Amino acid sequence: MRKFPEGFIWGTATASYQVEGATREGGRGRSIWDTFAHTPGKVAQGHHGDVACDHYHRYLDDIQLMKDLGISSYRFSIAWPRVMPEKGRVWVKGLDFYKRLIHALLEAGIRPAVTIYHWDLPQWIEDDGGWNSRETVSRFREYSEILFRELGDLVPMWITHNEPWCASILGYGLGAHAPGLCDWRRAYRAAHHLLLSHGHTVRLYRELGLKGEIGITLNLTPVYPASSRPEDVAAAHRQDMFQNRWFLDPVLKGAYPEELLRRVDAVVGGFDAVQPGDLEVISAPIDFLGVNYYSRAVVADDPADPLLGVRHVPGEGPRTEMDWEVYPEGLYDLLSRLRRDYGDVPIYITENGAAYDDRVEGGSVHDTNRIEYLALHFAAAHRFLEEGGNLRGYYVWSLMDNFEWAFGYTKRFGIVYVDYETLARIPKDSYFWYQQVIRDRAIAPEATELAR
Ligand code: FCB
Repeated sequence: MRKFPEGFIWGTATASYQVEGATREGGRGRSIWDTFAHTPGKVAQGHHGDVACDHYHRYLDDIQLMKDLGISSYRFSIAWPRVMPEKGRVWVKGLDFYKRLIHALLEAGIRPAVTIYHWDLPQWIEDDGGWNSRETVSRFREYSEILFRELGDLVPMWITHNEPWCASILGYGLGAHAPGLCDWRRAYRAAHHLLLSHGHTVRLYRELGLKGEIGITLNLTPVYPASSRPEDVAAAHRQDMFQNRWFLDPVLKGAYPEELLRRVDAVVGGFDAVQPGDLEVISAPIDFLGVNYYSRAVVADDPADPLLGVRHVPGEGPRTEMDWEVYPEGLYDLLSRLRRDYGDVPIYITENGAAYDDRVEGGSVHDTNRIEYLALHFAAAHRFLEEGGNLRGYYVWSLMDNFEWAFGYTKRFGIVYVDYETLARIPKDSYFWYQQVIRDRAIAPEATELAR
């Protein structure tokens, strides 16, 4: 029996734009995701977050689901445009929803874990240059200060940013996410400014003398070479710099990887975003590292690729509905690597989960594929714990099906099914399976069989 330690945090995660809806209520301003989703052709089937899961109104029912599930923590994010809806205007009442949510969670014995930024930048800030502009760093600090002053005593766990790689690379480099720009220069500036705003916010948190923990969540993807050819091994090394170390190194070591810095400099024609003292700010000590893990990358050398000279090759494992390879060993490899290269920083897995083509049959959803996915990944995490790894908790993505960014509602990641017609919630088999894991603090024996 794989037993997890007492006090291990079991949780589920969501994000504001993906679940809340009520985008025009409570004085909320527009975000870049409202604009992006309402631009034809950007999101699958023209889906948008106007209603989403209506969590804004149904949060009490959702908390009941969490309570029945038995989780000890709920990770959610705050919508910045609820607090700074337009230029020059701070709207503290926009936090009322979160105050209600947090109080209800605390009453239910569930620890709130708040992500300050999960991609819904106020549109007015984007109009002023967005993450491409250094001014956004001070605005983010200002926004965080409001959150800390209003909610700081109630919230024990803060995450400055969710996946700055996605916010910068997908949003400003590849155009797949809001604000939908394809400009590498801006993408790398955005990445730097996101990290800088993280550092300033961590410092601020310390200055205010708050008692909880603060960290950052990165999407980390272990990279494997397609063959043992030295060219492919070198390609994997470059991909790892781009995907992982560009964020890990500045936060945990106070430096960007030199080699990538040189490449970026060449590709964008002079990378001048970094100013003296920035890296010292970015590397302000954090209390934990949040890790989002879904899959791995396998790459081969490819001189035709201008930035990195790499080409992705599909791995051999089974695939989820996102077409992501199921590769649980990658989680173990990743955690071990973090420990080896970055020391014993406390880690939370802040997201892990899978999308499958779920069907409701007679009021149930038999998502054995998701159970298997989770069991295998829990087992990988357990192996790391057994070896003395400093893993504190595990948040399943997601509590419920929701707006999966550019895929709209076409991809279901929840352990609770959402009927988007009626907004009814139907706990899937994986929900009941997770309930048992939490009860036992262990992976049930039949799942352990699967995880062998
Ligand atoms: C992550 C995001 C999260 C969700 C999952 C599937 O990149 O942080 O919001 O969309 O992927």
